[in-house]
Amino acid sequence: MLKKDNLSQTSNWLESTQAVHAGENRNRPYHSLIDPIVQTSTYVFDDYDDIQQFIKEQNEGLPTDRLDYGRYGNPTVRVVEERLAALEHGESALLFASGMAAVTTTLLSFLSSGDHIILTDDCYRRTREFGINFLKRFGVDSSVVPMGDYDALEAAIQKNTRFIISETPTNPYLRVLDVERVVSLAKKHGIKTLVDSTFATPFNLRPLDYGIDLVVHSGTKYLSGHHDILSGVVVGSAEDITLIRDHVCTLGPVADPQNAYLLLRGLKTLALRLRHQNDSAFQVARFLENQPSINTVYYPGLESHPDHDVALRQMHGFGGVVSFTLNANLEQTARFIDHLKIPFITPSLGGAESLINQPSLMSYYSLTPAEREEIGIHDNLVRYAVGLEDAKDLINDLAQALVKFESK
Ligand SMILES: Cc1ncc(COP(=O)(O)O)c(C=O)c1O
Repeated sequence: MLKKDNLSQTSNWLESTQAVHAGENRNRPYHSLIDPIVQTSTYVFDDYDDIQQFIKEQNEGLPTDRLDYGRYGNPTVRVVEERLAALEHGESALLFASGMAAVTTTLLSFLSSGDHIILTDDCYRRTREFGINFLKRFGVDSSVVPMGDYDALEAAIQKNTRFIISETPTNPYLRVLDVERVVSLAKKHGIKTLVDSTFATPFNLRPLDYGIDLVVHSGTKYLSGHHDILSGVVVGSAEDITLIRDHVCTLGPVADPQNAYLLLRGLKTLALRLRHQNDSAFQVARFLENQPSINTVYYPGLESHPDHDVALRQMHGFGGVVSFTLNANLEQTARFIDHLKIPFITPSLGGAESLINQPSLMSYYSLTPAEREEIGIHDNLVRYAVGLEDAKDLINDLAQALVKFESK
């Protein structure tokens, strides 16, 4: 593949151009405009000499795009990895079967028994579960600190702390990490930083530009953008990604070439989609802010949001998700959602269709009300993931649902 020349060129491009072109091979097989899906589980050798050449390349670390088996790499997957590395301003990227595969494999690659990690709260439930319960079985301790409390974060640092892990913006309260502050703290103590930037996307924030070591995404969301695949990615230095890639070869959470192709296709419209979703979500947040039946609107673009200043300083847009609480109990909140005609009721986000959910009834239904309250999941909380519909229609839909809700 013609990667080397292409990459030096793409580093100067802006995000829309990178989303369409970064990592592509201009030397097209069959002169096809579109990158092919290389649907194979293994790669063949011509003869003994060919094998000898492959062994030489591997042993001497010579530049090659030659592969021998599907778990060790795939040309379609490689194109997506190079595009994502370019978009995040990282040296290298690694694609996974899901966002959770990216989170778990990355952490397993670096952590050993006796290590300690710090997680900020208000994070994806399964990441929290992995960080606190799963890793404990292998002798890794964890501390969870309140998002936005940097004194608590520093106080939680121990001699054996290896990682500070945070999402930004968080789910469901859209708290925004002060990445500059976390990097300076982490550097002072020699700790690695991992940011889950799923809700931000490289269109709104590039954590690596601020010195964060590793960025992960659930590519299931905005990166692919069509609610039709699961995928994950980690981006960072070539050294770190090589180390994680080695563990992928052993653990096996590899990306499938069909999924990689759909992700590549989705990425081409990332900038267009995000521009629209940033704008629509802001309009929805402003509308909700002025409704008497709404208690609080959580959106980093609003002046009332606790991290508004950080978001203004570090982000290029505030994202497509708006959370809010209603003056209502669990069932009344659910009935309000039932009145909406456009968003589908489901837990995901980031695609063309607007999606809505009540976290108490969706991701957190297996917890008791007391357990939910303890982690801030109130019964009247709603998360609205704005899609690609017209903001005016979404607002009219919310308005008619509020009229029905208020007339009960
Ligand atoms: C912030 C965040 N990180 C990671 C994940 C896990 O991603 P996946 O569902 O692709 O495994 C999710 C899923 O919702 C998420 O919201």
